[in-house]
Amino acid sequence: MSLESKIKILEEKHRKAEQGGGQQRIDKQHKAGRLTARERIDVLLDSGSFVEIDKFVTHTATDFGMEKNKILGDGVVTGYGKIDGRLMYVFAQDFTVFGGSLSRANANKIIKIMDMAMKMGAPVIGLNDSGGARIQEGVESLAGYADIFYRNVKSSGVIPQISAVLGPCAGGAVYSPAITDFILMVKETSYMFVTGPDVIKTVTNEEVTKEELGGAMTHNKKSGVAHFMADDDEQAMMMIRELMGFLPLNNMEDPPIKPCSDDLTRQEPKLDNIVPVDPNKPYDMKEIINNVIDNGHFLEVQSHYAQNIIIGFARIGGRPIGIVANQPKILAGVLDINSSIKAARFVRFCDAFNIPLITFEDVPGFLPGTTQEFGGIIKHGAKLLYAFAEATVPKITIITRKAYGGAYDVMSSKHIGADINLAYPTAEVAVMGPDGAVNIIYRKLDEEERKGKVQEYRENFASPYKAAEVGYIDEIIYPRETRRKIFEALEMTSNKSDSNPEKKHGNIPL
Ligand code: HXC
Repeated sequence: MSLESKIKILEEKHRKAEQGGGQQRIDKQHKAGRLTARERIDVLLDSGSFVEIDKFVTHTATDFGMEKNKILGDGVVTGYGKIDGRLMYVFAQDFTVFGGSLSRANANKIIKIMDMAMKMGAPVIGLNDSGGARIQEGVESLAGYADIFYRNVKSSGVIPQISAVLGPCAGGAVYSPAITDFILMVKETSYMFVTGPDVIKTVTNEEVTKEELGGAMTHNKKSGVAHFMADDDEQAMMMIRELMGFLPLNNMEDPPIKPCSDDLTRQEPKLDNIVPVDPNKPYDMKEIINNVIDNGHFLEVQSHYAQNIIIGFARIGGRPIGIVANQPKILAGVLDINSSIKAARFVRFCDAFNIPLITFEDVPGFLPGTTQEFGGIIKHGAKLLYAFAEATVPKITIITRKAYGGAYDVMSSKHIGADINLAYPTAEVAVMGPDGAVNIIYRKLDEEERKGKVQEYRENFASPYKAAEVGYIDEIIYPRETRRKIFEALEMTSNKSDSNPEKKHGNIPL
């Protein structure tokens, strides 16, 4: 055979592999508002940086006539490339090939890049668009999933793992993302469920639409399974690029410092007036955050879920930080089950990947009530306490107003290892608010006497000064100087070295 013919064979194989399940199925994918696996990779990675591997792999199944039905690549595109010049491993399931379902061969491709990513110390980005285990392969496909789950777990905390869910994902196609660090979904074109509406109807007689059961809004707002929501596939890919910009490639690296064009000593007189004098009046904590961080660039995580706590990434002086902040605008910023779990997982992510934690605190306490108690607020609130106490990254806390009760201890207090604890002059550090406290310690007062005691309590305890007198607050700052104060603390703690006692692993209350 001539060299020319050999090249022709190669070209033909490339063409066939790139065609996936064929033009008709590609058109169907586009009509459904989705990109193909290769198109997604093109948007995700730096132009021309993608190197594909295992492009000609095929499955080995023989049941159900599968030996006559082979497609090069077998429904997943795998390889590596770059985001902002930094190495990333990628797999993208191709829904046009057997619905992106996972075969043994297909799993082996994913496993290969997961193993490489661990060896080279680089993130894995999974673009999921799959009907789950390939039904025709039986236990082989279940084995493939378990092999992936196992690696997801071993990689957890070593390399960042990001999952985009970009189509109808069921079964194993949702459990692997669930183990990874962040899940992105796309409005109206992506779904996640363990079992779909048809099975639910059969088993429980419940009727529910695909969108209601497992759409992007359901998982971003109700279940808290997803962390980000995009309008379309392109935006989802751009969000992954933005997210990666804050993260180190692995747990041995520091997160990437970027040049900072925002004045580090800039004062913000606006900040002096954001916290209202009336302690019962709400305000938007995001206003404080946006005025303090570099160029107001805040990548909020889980922005639709448990909005009484805010979490997300930003930079100060070019250094990436993880922000945890009570939101007085929603439920007075109270800690409840969902907000505790939301923040706890974020704190652990930041700690695993060397991202300093900045905590803005205005919390009236844990939410009282039977719903919370029966739902296990004790163990779920303990998660956040555990996560902050366990974190050894630099921890800087700013109390803007209320720091009451157990919530004071939990929200990165000095006692659980915070490095620098700052407070605004408006801070109130006490066991509880003045009214509640007086009602308990003076039960038998008439209204006039009660008012007097409330006033006395407010003057004595509803301030940061008692805490400052004993060194639990390091400094009471002018709000306008918050940015500079945080930067100074970040710089001071940049060589922090701290570790937990040697152990197999702790036992966080799950
Ligand atoms: C093989 C599959 C498949 C699967 C879809 N296809 N899912 N092939 N194995 N799991 C194929 C279809 O036969 C079809 O092929 C093509 O993909 C597109 O599927 P459609 O059904 O036409 O698409 P759509 O209407 O959009 O519905 C998508 C879907 C649905 C919601 C994903 O296909 C579905 O419910 N699939 C089964 C989901 C499931 O139960 N998976 C097993 C989960 S168990 P053609 O040739 O017609 O284009 C599991 C265990 C893991 O994953 C362990 C977890 C812990």
